[in-house]
Amino acid sequence: MTDLIRAILNRSSEPRLEAPAPEGETLDRILQCAAMAPDHALLRPWRYLVIEGEGLDRLGGVFAQTGETDAEREKFRKMPHRAPMVIVAITSFKPHPKVPDIEQSMSTAAGVGYMLLALESAGFGGMWRTGAMAYAPQVHAGLGLSDDEAIAGFLYVGSVSNPKPHVPRPEVGHFVQRWPSQAD
Ligand SMILES: Cc1cc2nc3c(=O)[nH]c(=O)nc-3n(C[C@H](O)[C@H](O)[C@H](O)COP(=O)(O)O)c2cc1C
Repeated sequence: MTDLIRAILNRSSEPRLEAPAPEGETLDRILQCAAMAPDHALLRPWRYLVIEGEGLDRLGGVFAQTGETDAEREKFRKMPHRAPMVIVAITSFKPHPKVPDIEQSMSTAAGVGYMLLALESAGFGGMWRTGAMAYAPQVHAGLGLSDDEAIAGFLYVGSVSNPKPHVPRPEVGHFVQRWPSQAD
């Protein structure tokens, strides 16, 4: 088994994150991994916002705008502080005759997956979240998205404070078939 395969097989999303988050060259390399995503027609249909420090308070303020009650607003305001860094993955859809929007979203998703692996391999943790915040018009406006953009996710990033138990995966035979099957 290669180191890479072993790393993927041991990968885990980590919800309990604390400081420090990656910085400097380590952070740059992790972000560079997002640009290694397969990308039909090389449209580069993604961009990322890195948010930390006071930015997390600002993001909390943006999230709070989506709440309908005081209790909701308070809950949403705290959400970004679940980690010392939040990376917002944004798909910037580029009209193309052969590359529908879904392929551009998939390219962004691949980039987020690579970043999750890179984070873990650099000794950090990450958790990909969406929820209502990813689709709320107030959040799109607050983060400066254009009408041709969508949020693929919020990648919560930091050091793992308390590792989550490994989530079991189905065996290959449960989700993979040969085609045509031998019965055909
Ligand atoms: C697009 C996407 C959005 C997600 N949004 C959330 C979310 O909002 N909240 C959450 O608890 N998990 C969310 N998850 C799932 C977690 O990131 C994680 O994959 C899940 O908890 C399983 O853990 P594992 O990756 O260690 O197997 C999302 C996953 C994806 C791919």
